Amino acid sequence: MKITVFNGSPRKNTGNTHIIVKSFLKGCEKAGAETENVFLASKKINHCMGCFHCWTKTPGKCIQRDDMDELIPKFLQSDIVVFATPLYTDSVSSILKKFFERLLPTVQPYFERVNGETKHVRRYEKYPDFVFISNCGYPEYSQFQVLEHFTKRLARELNAKILLEIYRTQGELLKLKHILLKPIIGNFLKSVEKAGFQLIKKGKVDESIKEKWKKPLIPIDMFLKKANEHWDKEIKKIQ
Ligand SMILES: Cc1cc2nc3c(=O)[nH]c(=O)nc-3n(C[C@H](O)[C@H](O)[C@H](O)COP(=O)(O)O)c2cc1C
Repeated sequence: MKITVFNGSPRKNTGNTHIIVKSFLKGCEKAGAETENVFLASKKINHCMGCFHCWTKTPGKCIQRDDMDELIPKFLQSDIVVFATPLYTDSVSSILKKFFERLLPTVQPYFERVNGETKHVRRYEKYPDFVFISNCGYPEYSQFQVLEHFTKRLARELNAKILLEIYRTQGELLKLKHILLKPIIGNFLKSVEKAGFQLIKKGKVDESIKEKWKKPLIPIDMFLKKANEHWDKEIKKIQ
């Protein structure tokens, strides 16, 4: 079982997104999966030019030569892909969005109606199912409303099933070493690891684990107070 993570954080392996990804992959590896991290910010990925040559002149292949030449086969040859991103302006980062747009050669130009809606006809027999991992700065789970919807639309377009969604609010807390936060963050990351293990072993994750992810790590009032104090200090430091 090959799992590839496409991580769209500009902070790459120092980001909060990667902290969650690491725990998830640890669980998957314990269950026997082979894993790989791709930090999209380290790759050369031009934006889609909208020329549709990947549908006509060079079917299945973009006319631009960049790192998508190796990333599309990596995407198609994975059993599961993980799309990982910080929440940026309510959605995926532009780094990950660009990657999604460049997946256009993986479908055909032809239209078909499926479940009452139009979509492009698949080019390949098999597409990888996916896990979506994100974290955001704000404390309410409702901040992920757009992303949850986007994920559903993406699965339809990419001929894939959503296997699991892990959305973490208050993501900036994840890297803090505060003594009181340590057990809270530790428990969250353990539950993510367990989810990775369960997904590979049983093909699904206990609902009780997923429900806990919707709660804030610390009370929202306390979070706001601490976050505002932090930014006050940071601004005064450089004034
Ligand atoms: C340009 C930008 C846009 C952001 N937009 C949102 C947002 O819409 N909602 C939110 O809760 N957090 C937002 N954030 C905060 C990030 O999601 C948060 O800092 C996250 O922990 C970063 O993850 P990373 O370390 O993996 O990059 C934004 C941050 C940046 C830099």
